[in-house]
Amino acid sequence: MKKTVLVTGANKGIGFGIAKHLGLSGWNIIVGARHQERAEAAIRELKSLNIHVLGWVHIELADLSSISEASKVINEKYPELSLLVNNAGIPGDMSVDGQHTELSDIKETLDVNFIGTFALTKSLMPLLEKNNGRIVNVTVPSEISPYWHPLAYVTSKAAQNAMMGVMAMEFQQNDIPLEIFSVHPGPTTTDLNGNMALPGFHDIETVGKKMAELINDGNSHQGEFIELYPIVKED
Ligand SMILES: NC(=O)c1ccc[n+]([C@@H]2O[C@H](COP(=O)([O-])OP(=O)(O)OC[C@H]3O[C@@H](n4cnc5c(N)ncnc54)[C@H](OP(=O)(O)O)[C@@H]3O)[C@@H](O)[C@H]2O)c1
Repeated sequence: MKKTVLVTGANKGIGFGIAKHLGLSGWNIIVGARHQERAEAAIRELKSLNIHVLGWVHIELADLSSISEASKVINEKYPELSLLVNNAGIPGDMSVDGQHTELSDIKETLDVNFIGTFALTKSLMPLLEKNNGRIVNVTVPSEISPYWHPLAYVTSKAAQNAMMGVMAMEFQQNDIPLEIFSVHPGPTTTDLNGNMALPGFHDIETVGKKMAELINDGNSHQGEFIELYPIVKED
């Protein structure tokens, strides 16, 4: 039987790459997106590759009522949902240092990357639990890098990582048939970073394929934080 996945922010960037490669590997795809036009463009492209797209669901992560509505639609239309990929996210203002970060920037970035992501996850958990489902978060490490540390963004992702850790532990402690893990895709050329393509960056095709391979590898990754491109220490 085909498995069904909802990928948030699947209309472009890494989310589109994940949806494409999960679709090519046999998953039924639900596109999570904010705009009908962009969702439909993504669906046309996925369908041209013979990917089975079930449809798209409007999800605005900054709006809790949009999340409840999306959850209602998914429960009614796609009761077989077995995988949620929390991919949608925003960068916040990456041009300022910590002490000059605006409170509004922290709040907006947390609202989307953490509060909205948590609200969607929480609302879909009963359905996913019924289907022995999985939740995958697309994130960055919580550790602060000396080279790159935009406060709003890394704070929001650290909160998302904490959510993953807490839930994974509780799933295990309480024998809840759900799995959650996080993946850091590494630097990827997308709109989020102005399509930066420095050495060490990958494209969405490469990242999407590797993410799909990880999701399809048949192993449990409960509570793991996985670097898609681990840094190899040289002797
Ligand atoms: N690119 C990287 O180097 C990199 C590295 C590590 C982690 N990540 C993570 O990867 C994920 C995808 O990022 P990306 O690089 O692919 O960026 P992207 O090309 O800008 O795509 C972001 C996606 O998120 C959606 N989105 C943004 N705000 C939203 C909101 N309020 N509600 C619902 N959807 C929203 C966007 O939808 P619209 O088209 O409607 O704006 C878009 O589909 C993010 O969580 C990011 O933090 C990226």
